[in-house]
Amino acid sequence: MLEKAQQLKQQFAEKVSTATSPAELEQLRIEFLGKKGSVASLMSELRNVPNDKKKEAGQIINEVKQFIEKNIAEKGVEIAKLEEERLINAAEDYDVTFPISEEKGSYHPITLVQRELEDIFAGMGFSIEDYDEIVDDYHCFEALNIPKHHPARDMQDTYYLSTNQLLKTHTSAAQNAILKKYTSELEADRPIRVIFPGRCFRNEKIDACHENTFFQMEGVMVDKDISISNLIYFMKTMLSEVFQQDITVRLRPGFFPFVEPGFELDIQCTICGGKGCPSCKDSGWLELCPCGMIHPNVLIAGGLDPEQYTGFAFGLGLTRLAMMRYGIKDIRVFNSCNLKSLSQFENATFTQPEKEVK
Ligand code: PHE
Repeated sequence: MLEKAQQLKQQFAEKVSTATSPAELEQLRIEFLGKKGSVASLMSELRNVPNDKKKEAGQIINEVKQFIEKNIAEKGVEIAKLEEERLINAAEDYDVTFPISEEKGSYHPITLVQRELEDIFAGMGFSIEDYDEIVDDYHCFEALNIPKHHPARDMQDTYYLSTNQLLKTHTSAAQNAILKKYTSELEADRPIRVIFPGRCFRNEKIDACHENTFFQMEGVMVDKDISISNLIYFMKTMLSEVFQQDITVRLRPGFFPFVEPGFELDIQCTICGGKGCPSCKDSGWLELCPCGMIHPNVLIAGGLDPEQYTGFAFGLGLTRLAMMRYGIKDIRVFNSCNLKSLSQFENATFTQPEKEVK
């Protein structure tokens, strides 16, 4: 019996050393450890062993069995490792002569305009902040001096979620959080200067000029002694940078509960120079940028003392700017996923004359 067991062990050791695949290993397992395998047949021979030797013989067979189990497990790990290496090496084999596609991706026109504006504002010392698209009533309205049932809410109907949250109707929804986050700037005797671009949502009947999903870029500046003159000067400088030409602006009164006084800022039409053309509906002016001095209640909600600090806020319609910038006549192009329309804008500039985009 001892001899047979030794033979079996040796036989197995030889075979296992040449196995190279999980399938071969499984074959060996069946051959040696299966119901009708070599170990089982050795067990059945125990019947013929005299009683006083049975125990010893049983132990010998068990030992062989354990030896085989252990070796199959070890070999399994080794084979898996080799297989992994083979796959990694195979992945590095590629055909360098394979033709590559000429088609490249491109940035969305909104992204292009957003990046350009971010560059301009960063150059003027502004930080750039990202903010949630799903917000609560407090941030979108209450903190902005728009209490429940205020008529100003009518213009900003939006999508309400069952969680008491809503899709933000304007980037102003970030004002409260930003004032709080940047209080330390004021404590260090530096102004708060932040822009926050974002996607906004309103319940709109969609047509060539209205979308339920659009982009704005808002900015705030807060410090001691900030006045309307600072606002006008800043707006003029910033817009001249954006359009790469000297821009004439005018202010009209505009009502937004979170600014006082509030303005609609118009720029003289960059296409006709103020003479009147179809783009400015013959008025010579383009309505571009609502703005105003931040309302004391908004400063208080943001944890600031309105006796000590003042500031201005402005909203730029990014979607609107992208339409002007690239001559896009139909706002629906932006969310259309139509790559043919959306992938043609890399090199345009604001100063280029408008051309119709199909
Ligand atoms: N949040 C306003 C809107 O979307 C725009 C605005 C921003 C007005 C900042 C004044 C100051 O209509």
